[in-house]
Amino acid sequence: MTAENSQTIYLKDYQAPAYLVDHLALEFDLHPTATRVRSTVKFRPNPNSSSSEFFLHGENLTFLSAYINGAAVTPVITEAGLSCTVPDGPFIWQSEVEINPSANTELSGLYMSNGMFCTQCEAEGFRRITYYPDRPDVMAPFDVTIHSDLPYALSNGEPMRDEGQTRRWQDPWPKPAYLFALVAGEFQVVSDHFTTASGKPVDLNIYVRDGDQDKCAFALEALKASMAWDERVYGREYDLSVFNIVAVDDFNMGAMENKGLNIFNSSAVLASPETTVDGNFERIEAIIAHEYFHNWTGNRITCRDWFQLCLKEGLTVFRDQQFSADMRGAEVRRIEDVAALRGRQFREDSGPLAHPVRPESFVEINNFYTATVYEKGAELIRMLKLLVGDAAYKKALDLYFARHDGQACTIEDWLAVFTDVTGQDLSQFKLWYSQAGTPIVTVRDHFADGTYELTLTQVTPPTPGQPNKQPLVIPVALGLLYPDGTEALDTQLLVLTEAEQSFRFSGLHAAPIPSLLRGFSAPVIMQRETRQAEHLVQLTHDPDLFNRFEASRELGKSALLAMLQTEAAPDDAYCGALLQVMVNEDLDPAFRAMCCALPGQDEIARALAEQGQTPDPVAIDAAVHQLSEHLARQG
Ligand code: SER
Ligand code: ZN
Repeated sequence: MTAENSQTIYLKDYQAPAYLVDHLALEFDLHPTATRVRSTVKFRPNPNSSSSEFFLHGENLTFLSAYINGAAVTPVITEAGLSCTVPDGPFIWQSEVEINPSANTELSGLYMSNGMFCTQCEAEGFRRITYYPDRPDVMAPFDVTIHSDLPYALSNGEPMRDEGQTRRWQDPWPKPAYLFALVAGEFQVVSDHFTTASGKPVDLNIYVRDGDQDKCAFALEALKASMAWDERVYGREYDLSVFNIVAVDDFNMGAMENKGLNIFNSSAVLASPETTVDGNFERIEAIIAHEYFHNWTGNRITCRDWFQLCLKEGLTVFRDQQFSADMRGAEVRRIEDVAALRGRQFREDSGPLAHPVRPESFVEINNFYTATVYEKGAELIRMLKLLVGDAAYKKALDLYFARHDGQACTIEDWLAVFTDVTGQDLSQFKLWYSQAGTPIVTVRDHFADGTYELTLTQVTPPTPGQPNKQPLVIPVALGLLYPDGTEALDTQLLVLTEAEQSFRFSGLHAAPIPSLLRGFSAPVIMQRETRQAEHLVQLTHDPDLFNRFEASRELGKSALLAMLQTEAAPDDAYCGALLQVMVNEDLDPAFRAMCCALPGQDEIARALAEQGQTPDPVAIDAAVHQLSEHLARQG
C-alpha cells in the first residue's frame, strides 16, 4: 500500500458486508502479460446489514466491461475498487478485466514464477485478480474455468471436465476469496492415496518441476500422517476427492492453505535424505501439517475480518505443535517451541512493534503475520486447554466445528464455545488477546512448620499504546520436590488471577524445591533468585522434563559465567549431574542430547552485558571449549 492511500482500519469499526455472494464463476484466459478474467457473481443483499452501498475491491485491474442482470453498466472506478448502483434484490454481476501477471513483482494476486502461473491471495491479493468483495466474511462456492495451453491448470476443489485446453474446477465449500488459488504450468506429478475414516478415497498429488520428483516422498508421508492425525485427535475428515500441493520457487510465505490446492515455497516441501538435514525434515512435516489442518481451522471455519487472524493461525499452530509432539516426542518439541517463542515472540513483545495477539487497528495487515499472532496465539490455546482440562477442550472444539462450520468467526465466537461447555466466565482470560507484552511473574517462597508458602506477583510492562496493564489469568503448573529428589507434590495447576497471590502447601517434612511453570504452562517470564543446589536436584530428578532442561541451561550458564568472571574451574557438581542425565537410558536420547548442549555463546554474552560487563568473544569461546572438554573427559 502506498503512503497516499494508507489509512488506519479499526476493529471497532467492523461492518457486516452489504451484499453476500451465493455463487462465483470465474473464467481465465491465461496469458503472461494479458490475462483476461471474467466473473459471474450471484449477489444478494445481506439481511444483517443496513447498508445498500455496492462496493467491490479491485487494484491494478484494467476494467473492460460490467453487466448487471445482463445489462451493461458503467461503475465508478477508483484505485481501490468500484461502486455501482444495483437493484434492490438479488442480482447477477458480470465483469471482465485484464491483468498482467508478468508485471506482478509483489507476488500478490496472479503472477509468474519460472514460466508458471501462480497465485497468492492472503490477505488481500484477490482484488488484484478481479473486482470482488475481497474480505473474509464473504464466503461463496467457486466454479473456475481456465483456458491455457499449459499441460496443467489447477484450482480449488474438484476437477471437472478436462477438454483439451479448458480445465474446470468446482469447489463446493463456501470460502472467502483469500483461499482462492490458480496454478498453471509444466510439472511432474508425484501421487499417492488416502482413504478417510468414513471410507472416501482421496488422491494426493505434489506438483514439482522436473528433477524434483524424488524429493516428494517425505512430504507425502507427512500429509498422510496429518490426515490420519486430524481424524483421530480432532475427528476432522478431509472433504474433497483430491488434495493438491504445488511447490514454487517464488513465494512470499512459507506455504498457503488454499482450499484443496496448497501452494508451498519449494524449501518447505522438498526433501531428500542426501541433502536435507534433520531439523528441516521436522520443519517440512510441521508445515505440511499446518497447512493441512487449516482445512478445518481456517477454511471450513474462517475469520470474520483480519483482526481475527489468530483465530485460525493460533489454533492451527497449536494443532501442528500437538501433531509434532505426537510424532516426535512431546518434551523435545516443547523445549524447541519455547526456545523459538522466547527468541522471536518475547523479543517482539518487548520492543517497539509489540502488539496484542488480536490487534485493534492496522494500516497494513501483511505486517501482522507475526510471532505474536502465530506463536503467542498458539500459547493462548494451550493455556485455555490447560485451564478447562482435556475433556472440556475436546467438547468445546466439537461444538466449535458443529456450530460454526461454513462461517466467518471472531475470538468472541471461539471463547463462547468454551464458556458454553464449561460454564466458566472467560472475560479475564480474554485480556490475553488484547493486552500486549510478556507478563513477568516474580516468585517468593517460605517454609516453616511443615508448610510451604509460595507468593506469585505478576506485572506486564507497558507496551506502545498500552501504558497500564491489568492482571491476567496465568496457569502455573507446579510440582514440589524434596532435596533428595523425591516428589513432595505431583503437578498441580495454580491459577494466578490477581496482581499478587499466595498458595500454601502443608504436611511437608522438609523445605521443598518448587518446579514452577512445568511444561512452560504460560507464556511469561518467571523470576526467582537462582539456587544452584535446587537446580542440581531438578536436573537429576524433576519428572517434568521441560524444567529439567531449564535447570541444565541455568547451571550451564552459571558455570560459564563463574569461569569467565572469577576464573573458577568447571563446575564439577554440574558436570556430575549432567553425566547422570547422559547415562539415564529411561530418557529420550534427543532430550539427553539437548541437556548436554551448553548455552549458546550469544546467551552468555547477553548475560555478561546484563551484569554491566563487556563480553569478550574469545574468552567466551575458550570457556565453552574448556567446559565441553571437561564434560567429555568425565563422560
Ligand atoms: N496462511 C498462511 C499460513 O499460515 C500464511 O503463511 O499457513
Ligand atoms: Zn497458518
